[in-house]
Amino acid sequence: MDQADLPPAEPAVVPECPPPEVVEGLLRSATLAPSMHNTQPWQFRVLRDSQTIELSADPSRMLRHADPDGRAVHIACGAALLNLRLAIAVAGRQPVVRLLPDAGQPLLLAEVRLAGRYRPGEMESELQAAIAARHTNRQPFSNRRVPPGVLAELAEAAVLEGAVLHFPGHDETARLLHLASEAERDQFADPAYRAELSHWVGGSRDRDGVPDSALGPRDPMGETPTRDFTPAQHEALGYAWFEESPRGAGAAARPADCHRPGPGNHPAHPAAGNHRCLDGQRSGLRH
Ligand SMILES: Cc1cc2nc3c(=O)[nH]c(=O)nc-3n(C[C@H](O)[C@H](O)[C@H](O)COP(=O)(O)O)c2cc1C
Repeated sequence: MDQADLPPAEPAVVPECPPPEVVEGLLRSATLAPSMHNTQPWQFRVLRDSQTIELSADPSRMLRHADPDGRAVHIACGAALLNLRLAIAVAGRQPVVRLLPDAGQPLLLAEVRLAGRYRPGEMESELQAAIAARHTNRQPFSNRRVPPGVLAELAEAAVLEGAVLHFPGHDETARLLHLASEAERDQFADPAYRAELSHWVGGSRDRDGVPDSALGPRDPMGETPTRDFTPAQHEALGYAWFEESPRGAGAAARPADCHRPGPGNHPAHPAAGNHRCLDGQRSGLRH
């Protein structure tokens, strides 16, 4: 084994478990992660003796009709795990992650142990600061091109997490937008999907689900597909011109990385999930 492949050495003395209010703060950071329909489909269990936090999928918050295979649940829990790692690192402890630690408990997706003292890097601090600032944007972006340097940073951030980021070109983007429109239309034709949607979306909410105040306008030409959250309210939400050449990005896991120890031990990168710079520039990078 190459020296570079070895995990970083942990100091012999592990500090005590942080007080409950600090652990609560770590969990609060985790729960600021995005999730489909803002279902927040996660559960955490704190094992103070072993200084470990378990992250499980919450079956009562899964979307049986919109997400029958639990793919969105995994994406949301992965985002919560990233936030948790960053919060632990910035609190001065090394987060050591095990993915799917127990084959007998399929809902248990990860455990994070608070290991030795840790000095967070600048990148981790920047990313952690972005956790509370990040939000989903459903308004049109400007037509300004996303600078190539930003795209390169995002691609690099994906690699650090064992993934690859693909930026489709013009034709492929048009094809993907078309597929998204068709998928939205098919899904919307299912009454069970619509009933589930109305359970999670609309009204004024501050705990979970998507409130009216977070919804966005529609494209009058229908060329930029947006999820139809509240079909009865099109007039109220209004219409707006969306960017002419939207910039999409698709992330995929690298098969060769599936057997690596997991994302817990990679240094975080400020571009990963840091939507601040994109929001600030209002350039068109859609997910
Ligand atoms: C897997 C996944 C799928 C999502 N799909 C959509 C979508 O189709 N349309 C949309 O407007 N938002 C989508 N979102 C964003 C969520 O609605 C959003 O994260 C949630 O309402 C919480 O709001 P926040 O991101 O502002 O914290 C998705 C988020 C995730 C994680």
